[in-house]
Amino acid sequence: MDYQTLLDNVAAEVAPLIGTGNVADYIPALAGVDPMSFGMAIADLDGGVHGVGQWRQAFSVQSISKVFSLAMTLSRDGQTLWKSVGREPSGNPFNSLVQLEAENGVPRNPFINAGAIVVTDHLVELAGDASGALLDFLRSETEEDTIGFDADVAASEAAHGDRNASLAHFMRSYGNLRNPVPTVLEHYFRQCSLSMSCEEVALAATFLARHGVLRDGRRLLTRSEAKQINAVMLTCGTYDAAGDFAYRVGLPAKSGVGGGILAVIPQRCTICVWSPGLDVQGNSVAGAAALDVFTTMTGWSIF
Ligand code: DON
Repeated sequence: MDYQTLLDNVAAEVAPLIGTGNVADYIPALAGVDPMSFGMAIADLDGGVHGVGQWRQAFSVQSISKVFSLAMTLSRDGQTLWKSVGREPSGNPFNSLVQLEAENGVPRNPFINAGAIVVTDHLVELAGDASGALLDFLRSETEEDTIGFDADVAASEAAHGDRNASLAHFMRSYGNLRNPVPTVLEHYFRQCSLSMSCEEVALAATFLARHGVLRDGRRLLTRSEAKQINAVMLTCGTYDAAGDFAYRVGLPAKSGVGGGILAVIPQRCTICVWSPGLDVQGNSVAGAAALDVFTTMTGWSIF
């Protein structure tokens, strides 16, 4: 497969959409990103990475980090987590509070903010320095020591994090958070502030296309756990647009409000696309379109 020609064709097709949508500004440090940015990378399972546009430029991965923290938590304890968080699409915005009271402080899934905060809480229990363990994992899997947290983004999110703090306190009042709220939020904000390129995100996630096996052949997850994460990405990874996204793209995917989207094609490759303009649900407009065009051109949806 000539990945380069494929990526060039996808980029040309979505070029008119780059710059449409709105850059996230509820975290003020994200608001200054150039809306005309676009990058896309494919990591194949032989170690090759191919890219187009700004595929080597770091961006704020935000909620894409939730895939990696979920994988790290399941790899350390594959059972306990699912008592604290569900696996159903929420049908609500990613930062919504409304379901939590009706459902006794147990979030619908690990990819809405409440669910990801629960995952981080479990990872604090299991690893101590949850965000540090996540960073170590990402650096090791990409062999890239320059990956780091963006302190300005983390501080900006903490300063404007009242909604996440509400979610966390509310869940703790139901006994569904074991650690103090400030500790959990500190790790959660830090993990969301990870700054990575499309190349690095795609490389770091290839274990999801390899049924849980890392790049060096060691196993991170059981085959079942890798299936679980891919399944939850498909059904819950693109917020309350997951149904439409599955219809258009047909791949497990996780988006972030920094404009990145990670997608997995099991046994073939991972893809990361980035363009900061978001639609109303918080998914990158050009990024979603690029994945839509990609699966249409290749026929590589999982269906
Ligand atoms: O907590 C937040 O609102 C951001 N750090 C992440 C939001 C995001 O990317 C979408 N979340 N599911």
